[in-house]
Amino acid sequence: IQPLPGLGAGGIPLATPDRASIPGTDLYTIEAGEYRHQFHPDLPPSRLWGYADLNGVHGYLGGLIVATRDRPVRLRVHNRLPAQHPLPVDRTLCGAEGPDNRIAVHLHGGFVPWTSDGGPTSWFSPGNLQGETCLNRNPDGSAEYYYPNQQSARLMWYHDHAMGITRLNAYAGLATGYLVTDDVEQGFLSGGALPSIGIPLVLQEKTFVDGKDPNYTWGQVGDLWYPYLYEWQSPTGRWDYAPFAEPPGAVSGPLPVPSCVPEFFADTPVVNGAAYPYLEVQPRHYRFRILNGSQARFYNLQLYYADASGAEANLGRPGPAMVQIGTEGGFLPAPVTLNAPPQPIGFDPAGNAVRYTLLLAPAERADIVIDFSNVPPGSRLVLYNDAPAPFPMGDPLNDYFTGDPDQTAAGGAPTTRAGFGPNTRTLLQFRVLPLQGARDPASYDAIARGLVPLPPVPALDPAHAKVRDLTLNEDFDELGRLIQRLGTARQAGVDSQGLPTWGRNYMDPATETPRAGDVEVWRVFNLTGDTHPVHFHLVNVQVLSRQPFDPGAWNGKPRFTGPARPPDANERGWKETVRMNPGECTTVIMRFDLPQVPFAVPQSPRTGGYEYVWHCHILEHEEHDMMRPLVVTP
Ligand code: C2O
Ligand code: CU
Repeated sequence: IQPLPGLGAGGIPLATPDRASIPGTDLYTIEAGEYRHQFHPDLPPSRLWGYADLNGVHGYLGGLIVATRDRPVRLRVHNRLPAQHPLPVDRTLCGAEGPDNRIAVHLHGGFVPWTSDGGPTSWFSPGNLQGETCLNRNPDGSAEYYYPNQQSARLMWYHDHAMGITRLNAYAGLATGYLVTDDVEQGFLSGGALPSIGIPLVLQEKTFVDGKDPNYTWGQVGDLWYPYLYEWQSPTGRWDYAPFAEPPGAVSGPLPVPSCVPEFFADTPVVNGAAYPYLEVQPRHYRFRILNGSQARFYNLQLYYADASGAEANLGRPGPAMVQIGTEGGFLPAPVTLNAPPQPIGFDPAGNAVRYTLLLAPAERADIVIDFSNVPPGSRLVLYNDAPAPFPMGDPLNDYFTGDPDQTAAGGAPTTRAGFGPNTRTLLQFRVLPLQGARDPASYDAIARGLVPLPPVPALDPAHAKVRDLTLNEDFDELGRLIQRLGTARQAGVDSQGLPTWGRNYMDPATETPRAGDVEVWRVFNLTGDTHPVHFHLVNVQVLSRQPFDPGAWNGKPRFTGPARPPDANERGWKETVRMNPGECTTVIMRFDLPQVPFAVPQSPRTGGYEYVWHCHILEHEEHDMMRPLVVTP
């Protein structure tokens, strides 16, 4: 039983800026290092990698930054990671020839010059080694990133992006938040329209080594567990990842050990680095800044009344509404009321309006306000997830390893595996205390009631935009493992089994090469069975539509099978991570502007131009090999 770690002392360590050394700039000097953290009082401390202030102490989500619009940040990063990775490293992946402690710091959602984008080949290690596009090292070996912050208020995050090891570094802890605030937000705060800058809720998940597998040599009991065998087919014919040794009767190919897996769903959710925490709230308004920072899991969030145990079996009626006011790209143009049937906010694949929930794919964010004012003190509520894994066609109970019924309640004591977890549904418990002091002013409801207008989102005009057709593909690599790729519609290739494929590898020459200032419309056709959260570096996009087509009839041109439908109500602002469903064409529009910076930005020695990327943010997909360069030409 443990409280939710909040921002600052005793919780998420904030990074401290040096505001004096470079006038007008916030300078942060941080290190990437190894430390230990306890995810739950019943667990031993886990060995992690993370960011921390050079003068501070490590802690989970360490190095969190609060920046101000138009005030640049310089992030100076020292790589002090030991040579040995805390997780099993697959050396057959592209990029894995580099040292295991290579890192590249990427500001996810940032509008930054490409040399500060921390892209896949911009990694650096504690020694002199670095990737071919790493152009930002200081003489002392640190790397320096320049973030102009020419962006409205929003929650971003920075995390590792080094080629071939991103999924492991992020899971090991190299990820934290980055908030930008601006005059609009400060006006809402001082005018009493918003209760606060908000409480971050970083949703992630971990599996812990339980010591039962003698072949798992990468950690001790309580350390993080990550798959090291590819897949096994159980005697019942169900394909699954092997959490431990391969069981008798398993079928497996000549695959490397460790081997990457197509997706990893861990069994224990953690919020701000705490497993099954609780948060005490008063009958007031609270603002939460939610980030899905998981490897592959989607969260379909709802809020229910619970009994004192918080157990899933005893969940009751829906709790108060969650009013969403922002997304990855800042404030929405209008608030969206969630968790409150009967107003639907989303659509099923057939185009029927059905969803009341907050669905967040990996890397998506939501800025929400919950008003507990009318919740009787003494009540308990549970933030609940029921997204299938994989999404949308996986196990609806989403206990990926065992299908066991829930044994653990949010805010309660875990049963360990032996038996810690698995329960990926009751994420966080709210305990409502008696009100102290006066009730919240009515002004806190003003945004939800539309009395305080959120900033409008100017529409981009598709009329003169270049249109690109692209595909999301699933295939097999040379070793027979599943691989995901991005492709262009016009040119098909041939895969290792001689079958046509529409995908390209990351290291293939760039094909998405817009000119600076261009507006483009991308029609992305998903030929796979998964929803992929497709993330764009540099640009924010607007979702124009989703339209079903027949993937079986794909020949470089679509056969649409139904009408296009508009984006969900809470997707009508700026986005940079967009869910793209199977059998659908998701159409987005963006303009390739570049940030203003006070220095000359060289072009990439690897691709020419200003080299960014676009990719799936299921981290195991991104790594193998669902990522492509996005090269903006001057
Ligand atoms: Cu959050 Cu390219 O990544
Ligand atoms: Cu994907």
